[in-house]
Amino acid sequence: MTEKETHWSRFAADFEERNEYVVGKAEIELILRKVAEQKSLGRTLELACGAGTYTQVLAKEAELLYATDLSDEMLVVARKKLPSFSNVRLEKADCFNLPYENNSFDTVFMANLLHIIPEPENAVTEATRVLKDNGRLIALSFTTEGMTFLNKLKMGYRYLRTYGKPPADGQQLTVEGARMMMESRSLTVITAELIGHNVKAVFVIARGNGEV
Ligand SMILES: C[S@@+](CC[C@H](N)C(=O)[O-])C[C@H]1O[C@@H](n2cnc3c(N)ncnc32)[C@H](O)[C@@H]1O
Repeated sequence: MTEKETHWSRFAADFEERNEYVVGKAEIELILRKVAEQKSLGRTLELACGAGTYTQVLAKEAELLYATDLSDEMLVVARKKLPSFSNVRLEKADCFNLPYENNSFDTVFMANLLHIIPEPENAVTEATRVLKDNGRLIALSFTTEGMTFLNKLKMGYRYLRTYGKPPADGQQLTVEGARMMMESRSLTVITAELIGHNVKAVFVIARGNGEV
């Protein structure tokens, strides 16, 4: 088990409740609605599915959805939540070394992954490898960009109470940072924006062009 997996695994049992406390239920619902706007996802890969918060929404539009995470504990929790979806396969996978073929997914989705891993651009490279030409990459990550000082302070306090000190190798994602990361991997950025009210998330949609 890697150090990173250990970090998130210990919060698996009540991960969604913890997140709702830190970020706010209304903000998560807003993001879920944004994700639900993405239609006809086709054969889909979700990286770092965690407790399956976004998996349920993706499953409604995916032909076949591989929901993956490095943490066995997270996969156990996600599995309990998803029995009604016959098109979902829960699998253990490391986003830096995916056990899938080149050009095999119409959509790759990742929520709250890029800002918690070291060298997130390598995860984007790997995601791009498995993405079909012209496939859709959707990435979202909570960020403090665009938040008021007071809201940053309040969320920082809730985060510390809930998760303790953040792992040292994560780094804040910004809209411009995400755009550059995608473009440096030869993806064409369709949307790169901040969403949310009191709490913000970077939301990016990009298209693969088969150059990786
Ligand atoms: C902050 S949580 C986000 C979970 C979920 N996507 C969400 O937004 O609710 C980060 C997740 O990334 C997973 N993770 C960490 N490193 C990973 C890696 N190298 N490959 C795949 N998943 C990883 C953790 O196990 C954890 O479930």
